[in-house]
Amino acid sequence: TIARLVINPSFKVGPVRRRTFGSFVEHLGRCVYEGIFEPDHPTADADGFRSDVLDLVRELGISTVRYPGGNFLSGYRWEDGVGPVDQRPKRLDLAWHSSDPNTIGTDEFMKWADKAGVEPMMAVNLGTRGLQEALDVLEYCNVAADSHLAEQRRNNGAHDPYRVGLWCLGNEMDGPWQIGHKSAAEYGRLAAEVARGMRMMDPGLELVACGSSSRAMPTFGEWERTVLTEAWDHVDMISAHAYYWEKESGLQEFLLGAEDMDRFIDQVAATADTVAAARKSDKVIGISFDEWNVWYQDRTPSKPPTGDDWPVAPNLLEDTYSVADAVVVGNLLISLLRHTDRVWVANQAQLVNVIAPIRTEKGGKAWKQTIFHPFALTSRHAAGEVLRVVVDGPTVASEEFGEVQAVDAVATWSDDECVVFLVNRDESASVTAACEVPAGLRVVEALTYANADPRWHASADDDTTVLPTANDSVRLVGTDLELELPPISWTMARLA
Ligand code: AHR
Repeated sequence: TIARLVINPSFKVGPVRRRTFGSFVEHLGRCVYEGIFEPDHPTADADGFRSDVLDLVRELGISTVRYPGGNFLSGYRWEDGVGPVDQRPKRLDLAWHSSDPNTIGTDEFMKWADKAGVEPMMAVNLGTRGLQEALDVLEYCNVAADSHLAEQRRNNGAHDPYRVGLWCLGNEMDGPWQIGHKSAAEYGRLAAEVARGMRMMDPGLELVACGSSSRAMPTFGEWERTVLTEAWDHVDMISAHAYYWEKESGLQEFLLGAEDMDRFIDQVAATADTVAAARKSDKVIGISFDEWNVWYQDRTPSKPPTGDDWPVAPNLLEDTYSVADAVVVGNLLISLLRHTDRVWVANQAQLVNVIAPIRTEKGGKAWKQTIFHPFALTSRHAAGEVLRVVVDGPTVASEEFGEVQAVDAVATWSDDECVVFLVNRDESASVTAACEVPAGLRVVEALTYANADPRWHASADDDTTVLPTANDSVRLVGTDLELELPPISWTMARLA
């Protein structure tokens, strides 16, 4: 079977944004402790950060890292995490039923972000806290003047302000599981006031209001409408979160998860535009897709401890990913790129150990999960302008989405280099992708990630057996590019 694709430099959606390749570090499980930070590890640097993890973070090509949560954020006191480490309190984290020694806090994270070469994206707690604490952490981070909290930062070793430009106003405030969960009207009003106050201190901030924790939330749609109506003049973006995993409906259905992401983005954009119309406003609200990934929420590691057990850095949410999961991740990136006109920030959740592309062994190896590969390659090679790709080919039947194209694709175009990212989401049939491409190009590289056993996953002992490999079927005659796409596969073709 053949899928016909048209790739044309005129079909521009918008620029490839580096912020599409963001990630997320939460005080959750072993993401921070034993993840980015392990002072006793053989590769630890002078600050206790694992150099092997830093190397993988750079190879992954992430741009922006959201911190410190997540559900953890909604009970967090930022002051606990600054100043002399031996005087920092150990606190209960109600979100993940764990304890946090606060060894890592704002200053340490900023140091790590600097070493990793990433842009910090900070978040203020609007669960147990409010405007004053948001102003305080902003003053600590961003103010150069001779003020009390700026002075405290200087005394703690950071002379220059961090000048963090991107801030989340709380986390998943629509979720009943959230500490300090609120109605849309309550949250929208609070977000507006906090944003207004923060801008009085630092007018140039980019502020993200909480949207929905998933498209399946009962309040989805109405939440965005209400929050944006309240906070319209004060925020730049609204967030979206989505996690996908194989459910009882089976592998084929799971492979089509990007359909949900497409609809989610389109519906949030439509809702924001509805508020704009009602307000007679030309303002465009962006989307910060600041949590997305494959996450097996029904697996044991996703269940926090209970009772009197409040461990530090327990093994939580340490999903091990298959090749099929990596194909879904590659497809989710295709969806995010195709919406670059509206998705201005995106963060894969999370970076290390917790539903992550990078895993660590305590005292041992740092290794790459399957999902590392499509992310790293997309981040490295997507450049210039995003081009919408029209696909007309075989379809697969979905319970949730009806008939869906088996092949999904997006392309980028810069300095006469065209990069096409494709997935074949059919669980059993190969598809020939026949692409009409701009004239005068030659194939630089075509890589495919797939495996005879799509459930193969990497481990600490073996993260190299299944890697993206050259797709030898690639042929380019004139403007006709042809490629065989095996079932459940992700492919990148670079033409120049
Ligand atoms: O990323 C894991 C969790 O998922 C985050 O803490 C929360 O925001 C979301 O529900």
